[in-house]
Amino acid sequence: MRFSERIERVQPSQTLVITAKAKELREKGVDILSFGAGEPDFDTPDFVKEAAIKALKEGKTKYTPSAGIPELREALAERIREKNSIDYKPTEIIITPGAKMGLYEIFSVILNKGDEVIVPAPYWVSYTEQIKLCDGIPKILELDEKNGFVLTAELLEKVITPNTKALVLNTPSNPTGAVIPKEELEKIAEVCLKNNLLIISDECYEEFCYDSEHFSIASVSEEVKNITFTVNAFSKSYSMTGWRLGWVAAPEEYIKKLTVLQSQTVSNPTSFAQYGALAALEDKGKFPKMMKDEFKKRRDFVYKEFVSIDGVKSSKPQGAFYIFPNLSKFIDGKRIKNDIELTTYLLEEGKVAVVPGSAFGKEGNIRLYYATSMENLKEGMNRMKEALQKL
Ligand SMILES: Cc1ncc(COP(=O)(O)O)c(C=O)c1O
Repeated sequence: MRFSERIERVQPSQTLVITAKAKELREKGVDILSFGAGEPDFDTPDFVKEAAIKALKEGKTKYTPSAGIPELREALAERIREKNSIDYKPTEIIITPGAKMGLYEIFSVILNKGDEVIVPAPYWVSYTEQIKLCDGIPKILELDEKNGFVLTAELLEKVITPNTKALVLNTPSNPTGAVIPKEELEKIAEVCLKNNLLIISDECYEEFCYDSEHFSIASVSEEVKNITFTVNAFSKSYSMTGWRLGWVAAPEEYIKKLTVLQSQTVSNPTSFAQYGALAALEDKGKFPKMMKDEFKKRRDFVYKEFVSIDGVKSSKPQGAFYIFPNLSKFIDGKRIKNDIELTTYLLEEGKVAVVPGSAFGKEGNIRLYYATSMENLKEGMNRMKEALQKL
């Protein structure tokens, strides 16, 4: 095999270890409840599917402009103005095949060898690997669990070096559910301006903020907007994870470069899927609101259950659909040596699949996803409690 150095730098996801084990057990007929996924349990709404089917029947099956169909870029500009209070022109928006590809394109167009990007931990698994793929260096900034894993301007300021090029922000956060308050985002923006940092603001979970309104950092001021990439997707908000549609909004010169990259790689996001997304926007947020109301009940339930377990500490997730409790009390260094062994134990003994915190850069925690039925959650929590009691 003759691989590039670039691909050798990238780690496969640790979540795969648990997923593979869960699959193996299931194939043996063991009833496993899985809480490892990252997508809503709701189906894509019918009005979105129908719009895509209509587009297919009308022959909208050919290449589209690389940055996406103009109607969708226009509709997004309007939606971002209304929902996020940021004034982007359609030419400041590119439609990407998922937020993940949007992020990868951003790192590709801004990073040179040795550039550092600050990634607050716990982090979503792909940031660090994408940065490495693009020759950058992920600088992990460990967040304070006691402060609910919320990034602060004070913490940020301490890790900036002359090589720091950008900051990754993810609010609401996967995996912790932390939401950075508006006042803190304003201070963070100030630090970024002062230190000449770009901001990559991943707002994929913006529709799922349970205790406050979502706030977009680019809405702080025109100056902040000029250094920010606002990243988002239809994936979680409209339960369209398999459609592969997201967007990046940023100053036009950046969008032009992202478009060049997109034109030379994927050509364009899937044509008929974009018409489905157009229909999703016409719903004006009703569908995500319905999911949010449901997820909030589930969030309250899993939080109450976890903190009722002796020795478990957890901050209350403020957004997204994950909870990230600290279970280090059960890692005794003998029978259970680390969180991977703990999640393996929960799988084999409790028949529940959850992801170890170390996959997200924080040892001793687990990530449980609660965008699944209340029935599954009740059964899963019972199984987990029983298994933990035996330790
Ligand atoms: C924080 C975060 N950003 C980006 C993505 C990727 O989204 P998409 O499916 O639109 O590529 C995910 C998906 O899990 C995520 O959790």
